[in-house]
Amino acid sequence: MPVKRLLLVALACAPEVVQVVAYTWPDTAYDVVEEFFWKDRNDFLDVPPLCDFFPLDQQSTSAGWLRTAYHDVATADVAAGTGGLDGSIFYETGRPENIGSSVSESVSQFASFYGRYISYADVVAAGAAVAVKNCGGPNIPFRTGRITALEAGPSGVPLPTDSLKSQTAAFARQGFTAKEMIGLVACGHTMGGVDNEDFPDINPNVGVASFDHTVYFDNNIATTYFNGTTIDPLISGPATSASDARIFASDGNVTMRSFAHSQDTFFSTCASLLERMINTVPKEVKLSEPVVAIPFKPRDYQLSLLPDGTINLGVTVDVFGPNVISTSRVVTMHWNDRESDRCASGQCSALPITGESNSGLAKRNGNELQAYTFSVNATTKASFSSFWFTVDEDGTGRAVTTERNGGGNYPVDDLLLVVPEFTCQGYLGGNTNITGRITVAIRSSVTPSSVTLESTSNGEGQPIPQIFSGPAEMITGNATSPMLSPSDDYVYYSGLVPGPLNAAGCSTQMEYSATIDRKVHQGQILYSGCTSRASTRLPQSFCEFCGPFPCATT
Ligand code: HEM
Ligand SMILES: *[C@@H]1O[C@H](CO)[C@@H](O)[C@H](O)[C@H]1NC(C)=O
Ligand SMILES: *[C@@H]1O[C@H](CO)[C@@H](O)[C@H](O)[C@H]1NC(C)=O
Ligand SMILES: *[C@@H]1O[C@H](CO)[C@@H](O)[C@H](O)[C@H]1NC(C)=O
Ligand SMILES: *[C@@H]1O[C@H](CO)[C@@H](O)[C@H](O)[C@H]1NC(C)=O
Ligand SMILES: *[C@@H]1O[C@H](CO)[C@@H](O)[C@H](O)[C@H]1NC(C)=O
Repeated sequence: MPVKRLLLVALACAPEVVQVVAYTWPDTAYDVVEEFFWKDRNDFLDVPPLCDFFPLDQQSTSAGWLRTAYHDVATADVAAGTGGLDGSIFYETGRPENIGSSVSESVSQFASFYGRYISYADVVAAGAAVAVKNCGGPNIPFRTGRITALEAGPSGVPLPTDSLKSQTAAFARQGFTAKEMIGLVACGHTMGGVDNEDFPDINPNVGVASFDHTVYFDNNIATTYFNGTTIDPLISGPATSASDARIFASDGNVTMRSFAHSQDTFFSTCASLLERMINTVPKEVKLSEPVVAIPFKPRDYQLSLLPDGTINLGVTVDVFGPNVISTSRVVTMHWNDRESDRCASGQCSALPITGESNSGLAKRNGNELQAYTFSVNATTKASFSSFWFTVDEDGTGRAVTTERNGGGNYPVDDLLLVVPEFTCQGYLGGNTNITGRITVAIRSSVTPSSVTLESTSNGEGQPIPQIFSGPAEMITGNATSPMLSPSDDYVYYSGLVPGPLNAAGCSTQMEYSATIDRKVHQGQILYSGCTSRASTRLPQSFCEFCGPFPCATT
């Protein structure tokens, strides 16, 4: 069947097709995950560097991430609907079945990435998908919605010295047949190896003994099994712990033969088994649809009131997909005034102020990213009600498309602005329970019933984000406080944001919202100045009421 085979090869080599979903901006919960998983906005993909960086005899972060995700899932009881990928591994690193720095280091690496919009358990699942992809493996769709456990679960990770019968029973408890067990073990044991520090009986030599001569995700684990060159320590090591040998041969080698025969079969089988593995969740969890990349999307949007009473709209759009890097494309932003469905002021379009390209292949699943950053001003009278873009693909005017957020334009809520001049993180007033200050400007035509300031912090030693919240108060300004709105159209509200001042961890994010006529108007996420996401168009050097930005000084 040569035709079918060709098709499979083409699929395996092509970058993952960027799909279009019914998506409307903004959708903070979706945006955070999409930018995290696809656009590497939090440096997640930088933690497991490309597999090439690892000498074979050293720990591979990617392999550690995959092993850790399996060990989290391995205690699942699918019949009871308990356990699975719930992040309980966070509490279980001390167990003998989770021996090794590959688990303990992964568990703490994952802890830098969870937050209000992505749970620790989701980060573990994303870690497995990213690790496989980074080492050259197949794409594994990523769904969110996992709930992080509050305590350790039962034990039950299979050990290399367990009998085949007991291992088969353990996989059955996890929801996998005996045949699927063979697949899943081969899909795991194509990456990394056995560390002498953890299993000196199995690997008597210093360092890590590779399973299959490479750090990559490939079918070498199967080809070397049959052609006499296997170095898998769970095959060639002591008979009592020759777990891979027993498992691989348990169906008369049928599964392993299919993998040795075809890398495509190996990839498609692993993609499906690993997807099921990370989607094994407690029965109360409902996973989302797969998070797909949005090919054209605004991010790091911020609507600010500047000291001279100008409203600034800052936003970056990402163009994402295969071969999107282009020096000739011209992206233009357009907008409407607050009280018209057009641009009455006449100043209604602008070109980007900066751009950025990133074509890192492994980082973006074969896709590329080109970004365009806009910063436009309006008077408080004119203000904004929405914006949209035109994209002149080759700069000749022959192929101009319009990006209107599915038709309704990208909405602007100008009742709630942030005041960068008096907003900052790192309150140096001696109170370590204050994480910063947020000052917002509320349209004077409305009266909020409350203005709320929040911070989210990754609590040390626990995988559940902590959310701190406090009120902002109306600020009128006087001789000693210059916090006076420069515009009659806006009134200032300001307050210190509760939450731990964590200059070192820098995992704190601040948010703000105002309730006006019972409707909550949500502001943007203000990311910490020392994340790569210091998008926040906030002054990072000095803030009169906060002191220096902590990370700028370290
Ligand atoms: C009967 C089932 C299994 C047994 C007995 C087993 C056993 C082991 C052992 C003894 C190691 C060495 C760990 C160390 O040196 O600290 C290891 C490593 C590893 N296992 Fe498994 N495993 C099993 C199933 C799986 C599955 C289902 C996966 C994933 C799908 C997986 C993924 C990995 C990975 C990626 C490594 C390499 C870790 C590294 O290099 O840091 N294992 N396994
Ligand atoms: C065995 O398979 C591996 C991986 O495909 C290959 O690199 C190696 O050359 C093969 N060795 C023999 C003796 O066929
Ligand atoms: C499976 O393959 C291995 C490696 O070639 C071989 O040692 C073993 O005898 C085979 N077992 C069966 C049941 O075919
Ligand atoms: C917007 O206004 C501010 C303050 O007046 C000014 O510094 C900035 O250059 C203006 N930006 C643009 C794009 O005109
Ligand atoms: C910070 O909060 C903790 C716990 O509520 C409290 O014990 C401590 O006194 C607070 N510190 C300051 C400086 O307010
Ligand atoms: C001036 O305004 C600040 C901030 O609102 C307030 O804390 C302070 O009490 C005010 N001072 C006077 C003299 O009203």
